[in-house]
Amino acid sequence: MDYFNDRDGVIHAEDVPLPEIAERFGTPCYVYSRATLERHWRAFDRAFKDHPHLICFAVKANSNLAVLNVLARLGSGFDIVSVGELERVLAAGGDPSKVVFSGVGKRQDEIRRALEVGIRCFNVESEPELLQIDRIAGEMGVRAPISLRVNPDVDAQTHPYIATGLKENKFGIDIHSAASIYTLAAAMPNLRVVGIDCHIGSQLTDLAPFIDAIGRVLKLADQLCASGIHIEHLDLGGGLGIRYREEHPPEPAAYAAAISYQLAERPYEVILEPGRAIAGNAGVLLTKVEYLKSNDHRHFAILDAAMNDLLRPALYQASQDIVRVVQETDADPLRYDLVGPVCETGDFLGKDRTLALNEGDLVAVRGSGAYGFTMSSNYNSRPRAAEVMVDGDQAYLVRERETLASLFAGEHQLP
Ligand code: LLP
Repeated sequence: MDYFNDRDGVIHAEDVPLPEIAERFGTPCYVYSRATLERHWRAFDRAFKDHPHLICFAVKANSNLAVLNVLARLGSGFDIVSVGELERVLAAGGDPSKVVFSGVGKRQDEIRRALEVGIRCFNVESEPELLQIDRIAGEMGVRAPISLRVNPDVDAQTHPYIATGLKENKFGIDIHSAASIYTLAAAMPNLRVVGIDCHIGSQLTDLAPFIDAIGRVLKLADQLCASGIHIEHLDLGGGLGIRYREEHPPEPAAYAAAISYQLAERPYEVILEPGRAIAGNAGVLLTKVEYLKSNDHRHFAILDAAMNDLLRPALYQASQDIVRVVQETDADPLRYDLVGPVCETGDFLGKDRTLALNEGDLVAVRGSGAYGFTMSSNYNSRPRAAEVMVDGDQAYLVRERETLASLFAGEHQLP
């Protein structure tokens, strides 16, 4: 459930009508709802109330400082994949002792900085990375908390670009060789083995692959325990899907119940790294119809937002709901392809959508709060969109629209 609702024929973000936001901040712009972010984070937190847990929001889904700050105030932890994300978390008031660091290619400077601020855990993805972290921790005179990200080889049944738990993916360490690498890690002087980590993919709409993966991870935990390696937590990653159009993903409560059931009496703290399930439906991309045009085959609505603003449709053929912001219209419904001004055939935000549109109308692309702005670019020298957060009846600009001057501010011509 989210707080983008139709009131008297106009879509509001909480108590603020979207046309007011378009008027004040311009389009295209991302609009987030604080109440929705909080509601979704709490749904995870409450679902585990009877079990020790830490909800670490996956920063890659939405790294705006205001978003991170709203979650940090709830006590959220954070899952990061770069020092850039770490600095954002710190700048937003996040607690470094609740940060887990994922990713296959952590650089030395990134490891150093994470050790310096005292993160909760490194999710290590290879043996060379383990050696690197041990060496750097040794130089710094600290012990680095680590878990191994294991690849449980389960099919997440999602888009191949966002499935990460199969043998052929670059992620993690084969679960079958994990025990021996844990033994190596436990013997390294500057490491502290604290957990097991796995993440099998994103936008999962079925519990079965999660249950399958947890079963395999628990088997490894038992095996480690028998060999004298006692871990404290299981990090089960992110991946719970959301409803974009017709999907029916499980609620966080059902997901938590399945995890708790499998854990049974085992004492491990559960760490989760949800991104999309918290932020996805907490944001819309607000955009204006610039032109309508038709040929013998199709009707096109050309928007002022494009693939550089929201890449998901172009990259994953993702289908997100696109709705009129003001219901009343004298236009007739037609089947439109909603496209942007970028010079690529793949530049569309939606295809075959029946909508009644006039030039100048506002439409909202729903489900854009996760992997929306964070994946945006300046392609075609388009300044990135503004970001706005609504809190009750107030709308705040949380990231300014980029200026044309900023597009080439760091560039230099030859003498
Ligand atoms: N933890 C790790 C290690 C991850 O790699 C990811 C996402 C997450 C957590 C968060 O997953 P979530 O709960 O958001 O599903 N750009 C794609 C999604 C890429 C996901 C990458 N990893 C999209 O727009 O669908």
